[in-house]
Amino acid sequence: MGCAISGLGLAPKPTAEAKDEEAAATHLSEEQIDMIKESWKVIQEDIAKVGIIMFVRLFETHPECKDVFFLFRDVEDLERLRTSKELRAHGLRVMSFIEKSVARLDKLERLDHLALELGKSHYRYNAPPKYYGYVGAEFICAVQPILKENWTPELEEAWKALFMYVTRIMKQGYLEEERNKHNTPVISSKEKPEKKNPAL
Ligand code: HEM
Repeated sequence: MGCAISGLGLAPKPTAEAKDEEAAATHLSEEQIDMIKESWKVIQEDIAKVGIIMFVRLFETHPECKDVFFLFRDVEDLERLRTSKELRAHGLRVMSFIEKSVARLDKLERLDHLALELGKSHYRYNAPPKYYGYVGAEFICAVQPILKENWTPELEEAWKALFMYVTRIMKQGYLEEERNKHNTPVISSKEKPEKKNPAL
């Protein structure tokens, strides 16, 4: 595996560091946006490969995430997943979300909408926010070797900031959907109001 990044923002941090991370989760500087866009041009050429590496690593380091996936939960030999069409397709869907996020960095309100809806769909997939940080960490480990000497600590901070930004909003979407589901009263057929006018 050989990559020292752990789940983003998971371990308890000293106060100053925690404040920096909080700022990163709500803000990306213009410099960071430019760095992300520039590096994306290179990453883009290998998106299918990055998607697969990212998920195989995720399942190796956090097998509890694999259990959430109906398609992969029974696969014991993770090496088999490297050639799985299903994992390739799933990896590409996630990478295409990252591509859209990069494209929306200049219009953050559009990115917010996308990430909020994604968080809502993850409530329906039974994928809770406590796992989201792992994905950014695995993405970073997967793209480092592709960018070689162009990978810098500043670029790493920029990508971490993007993942923290997106996962913070995904979490909001997840919690919103959870609240909505809990607040939706279950009306039994006996209690359902009679339809007086069927045309309405
Ligand atoms: C940064 C974090 C993550 C991102 C950006 C992300 C992105 C996506 C995207 C784009 C899809 C395609 C379907 C859709 O648009 O709704 C998807 C599906 C899914 N994701 Fe995630 N995801 C993340 C984290 C996770 C984690 C940590 C898990 C599991 C623990 C997970 C479980 C799933 C499942 C079960 C599906 C549905 C798969 C299927 O179609 O069969 N996701 N995700």
